[in-house]
Amino acid sequence: MIPHSKVALDEEDIAAVTKVLRSGQLAQGRVVSSLEEKSASLIGVNHGIAVNSGSAALHLSLLSVGVGEGSEVIVPSYVCTALLNAIYYVRATPVLADIDPNTYNITSGKIRKVITDKTKAVIVPHMFGLPTHIDAIVSLGIPVIEDCAHSVGATVNGRKVGSFGLVSILSFYATKMLGAGEGGMVLSGDRGLIETVRDLRDYDEKEDYRVRFNYKITDIQAALVATRLNRLADSIDKRKQIASIYSHGLKKAGVRLPEEPEGKEHIYYRYVILLENPAQFMQEMLKKGIECRRPVFKPLHRYLSKPGFPASDQVWERAVSIPIYPSLTAEEAYRILDAIKTIL
Ligand SMILES: Cc1ncc(COP(=O)(O)O)c(C=O)c1O
Repeated sequence: MIPHSKVALDEEDIAAVTKVLRSGQLAQGRVVSSLEEKSASLIGVNHGIAVNSGSAALHLSLLSVGVGEGSEVIVPSYVCTALLNAIYYVRATPVLADIDPNTYNITSGKIRKVITDKTKAVIVPHMFGLPTHIDAIVSLGIPVIEDCAHSVGATVNGRKVGSFGLVSILSFYATKMLGAGEGGMVLSGDRGLIETVRDLRDYDEKEDYRVRFNYKITDIQAALVATRLNRLADSIDKRKQIASIYSHGLKKAGVRLPEEPEGKEHIYYRYVILLENPAQFMQEMLKKGIECRRPVFKPLHRYLSKPGFPASDQVWERAVSIPIYPSLTAEEAYRILDAIKTIL
């Protein structure tokens, strides 16, 4: 069976975790601080604060930007519910924007349509590893929370995503680019905002009282993220090689392939194709020993029973994510390709 996602651990990962275990310092310590510096420097911003999930990173980002009751936060409708949850955690109101059906991302045009005088922030994911037109979104003048859960390492005109917004977040969930089980990071060049995030991440030994959280990660998880971060460039190269096998092989197969607009570097966290009958296709792939998934389980407007998101519907009804990860061999990629062609 070729699984849809696979975590590849090597001896370097095991040695890094073992070193932490032997040190006796399991909770947040120096390995976490070092990861914060490394992540900030990778993305090209001044500060990073590690937390225990991408969801926690979104939650603290919203609080640090001053989003609360009565504020509206714009998010795409075609994304996972983590974004919606974070908005509800702070008692704000989500405002959904439809996506661009070609890139699966939100754009400045779609955002502009839903801005009101209550808009306090926009959360902008770069879906499946493809950056959106982030410059145009930033120039709208609304505080931008860049969600790089899918896209750490991707660039726009050579500049890393995550460095454009007022604040950005990463996720270290097991199957993500820097997967370590669970974990996340808030990144920003704004010192005040980062100090708020640092303060809210930990409740212990504070002079004043306010509602704070235990959103810390352990040195064990940080060690694992750090070794994966050392291999990030290599793992992006491997993903691109597999994507290129798929893109060449499927050129004439009658399916919609991922786009890569000029100046935007796709890192292929997911390789998503659009086809006519995804449920049946996935079943037939499974019979051939290949696991595929819907890349977004259900769009947000469907959870909220809101009509009027035709592009999100159109993509959701047709999208399938096929296996792509650094440990997938070329032989496996060709086997997947053959299976897709046979089924289609
Ligand atoms: C775009 C996006 N943002 C945020 C998250 C939340 O990350 P986590 O699972 O680490 O809470 C996810 C999770 O898959 C995601 O896909």
